[in-house]
Amino acid sequence: MKRIVVGKVAEIPEGGRKIIVPFRGRAGIGIFNVKGAFYALRNICPHKRGPLCTGEVAGRSSTTAPPSVTEGFVDYEREGEIIRCPWHAWQFDIATGQCLADPDLRVKTYPVIVDGEDLIVDVDVSDFIPEENYHE
Ligand code: FES
Repeated sequence: MKRIVVGKVAEIPEGGRKIIVPFRGRAGIGIFNVKGAFYALRNICPHKRGPLCTGEVAGRSSTTAPPSVTEGFVDYEREGEIIRCPWHAWQFDIATGQCLADPDLRVKTYPVIVDGEDLIVDVDVSDFIPEENYHE
């Protein structure tokens, strides 16, 4: 893991994101501000490798009604906490990387450190920096 300054706190307002895909990098990352907390996700969907971090950020709908019921109450919750992959619409919790539909599936997450005005991410260098540019 390597600590990299990925930007300034002011660059990513609440509800915003910054996606960094380095030239010839393998994946890149997305940094999200969810209600004032920062999270970073690998920019590759674990389903079919879509650019997950470019997807829509929203909430999720849920109901306790059985599938056979055509009318019922639907709750909308967790606005701004869920990202939907642009390829096949699978949903992931931005804070944990957990796939909502499959408990065995998770997108890789990285710790985000706020250091004064700087945002620092602990990244796996192979996801972020082209291999020929890093040295251990
Ligand atoms: S590639 Fe993301 S849902 Fe299929």
